[in-house]
Amino acid sequence: MAQKRAARRASNSSPKFTVPGLKIADAKKIADDLDIRLAALFDLAMTLKHIHWNVVGPLFIAAHEMLDDHLAKVLPMVDETAERIATLGGHPNGTPGYLVRVRNWNDYDLGKATVPEHMAALDVVYTGIIEDHRKLAEQLGETDLVTQDMLVGQLGTLELLQWFVRAHVESSEGEILTTSSSERGAARKARARIA
Ligand SMILES: [Fe+2]
Repeated sequence: MAQKRAARRASNSSPKFTVPGLKIADAKKIADDLDIRLAALFDLAMTLKHIHWNVVGPLFIAAHEMLDDHLAKVLPMVDETAERIATLGGHPNGTPGYLVRVRNWNDYDLGKATVPEHMAALDVVYTGIIEDHRKLAEQLGETDLVTQDMLVGQLGTLELLQWFVRAHVESSEGEILTTSSSERGAARKARARIA
């Protein structure tokens, strides 16, 4: 997910209504931006299941079960984000084809791999989604504090979940041993630096 590529922008048709006190033009922009966050959260949910099914090796069961705990926290964010778009007068897009069209990141890059390799790659995934969530939350300070509050709440949970992942690839000196801009790069470092 960290490797960015060009993508078509989300584009809701102009809402016919929105929440009281918000301009229609602002509601459209927020709904469009939230559409991308919705795609990112959906993508994260599927990626968590993909890893749940493909992780192997020592500590398998701990990672396998932890990933379902992550999913249980991410799926309500998917629903919350989609329903915020609808509340703003937009229409949330939940189809796989739409997700692929609007996203500007690539598919998760690992198949069957060990716990440290997947945790290193998932750390990269969480960094991508958290950075983009934070960017949008900061922009919303001028227009929509309610949507901002939703994203800030999600960020608190996403950052906590990333810490659970990072603890697998952190040294006793507190260094993240697998920092990389790509999932494959992070997995390579996990192979080299973590027994
Ligand atoms: Fe399962």
